[in-house]
Amino acid sequence: MKTRLQVVGDPVGHSLSPDIHDLFAAQLGDLVSYGSETVPVGQFKVRADAFRQAGGIGMNVTVPHKAVAFAYVDLPSVDARAAKAVNTIHFCADGVCRGHNTDGQGLVRDLANRWGVDLAQANVLILGAGGATRGVVLPLFDAGVGSILIANRTLDKANALCADLRRHVPARAQLKSVAMTADLTGQDVDLVINATSAGLAGQDLALPISIKQLESTFCYDMSYGPNAAFHKQMSGQAKQSVDGLGMLIEQAALSYEIWLGRRPDTNPVYDSILAGLAVKEGL
Ligand code: ATR
Repeated sequence: MKTRLQVVGDPVGHSLSPDIHDLFAAQLGDLVSYGSETVPVGQFKVRADAFRQAGGIGMNVTVPHKAVAFAYVDLPSVDARAAKAVNTIHFCADGVCRGHNTDGQGLVRDLANRWGVDLAQANVLILGAGGATRGVVLPLFDAGVGSILIANRTLDKANALCADLRRHVPARAQLKSVAMTADLTGQDVDLVINATSAGLAGQDLALPISIKQLESTFCYDMSYGPNAAFHKQMSGQAKQSVDGLGMLIEQAALSYEIWLGRRPDTNPVYDSILAGLAVKEGL
């Protein structure tokens, strides 16, 4: 019998998750049916219940339902509690509905395994203080980074996020917030991560640090494809600049492992999805 999986969100038509999971299943020889369902705001619980009733085993959750999914599950993981968001639901055989957040671990795996970034004691600057940032701070500290500075356009939001995250990260973790207009000249930064949604509007970011200072810094854009404006802004300027396609593939692989108990090899899937995107963008 096929393992029933799906992704829910609104919009969800553009999601690469069905393609990624089909490639994982083909690679591992698993019988999987991975669908996608557009679920409007307010409909999450009804639709998730229906999926479960119909024998669904695993669900990926994307915008705008990650916070509602966190409230929906019986048992959220440590990463989900820090993120206050769930991107992976597992309807387990013991009747418990478990919630996970694989975004942060996905980012860590992409940085460390695909791009060879040394996270040990790294000084990290994260741009943005929304849900995307909230999801990655604890996993980055767990991976051994030395400090995280969150810069945001709205300083109050960054301060509030830091105060809340301090309840989840180790007491000695160096976590601070600044305004995006702060002057970080002279600050030691090894890694810059864009977690803002500015790229969706195609906007360049006014950075709190000079581009010159980022010549020897690794820059990571959590957006991918045409939305990765920060990646494009930093290409040729920073030591290396990459987009977040690898994070998308890694977080999917972590979900797959939660549901099916096997870890796919993400490299051929990354190459295949990248090639597909290049064809689409070329059209
Ligand atoms: P997500 O869940 O994707 O993180 P979000 O919670 O809406 O989305 O957060 C979006 C983030 O991008 C916020 O940090 C936002 O800054 P504000 O808190 O000041 O709104 C940031 N952002 C969006 N557009 C931006 C822009 N043009 N310049 C700088 N920051 C921007």
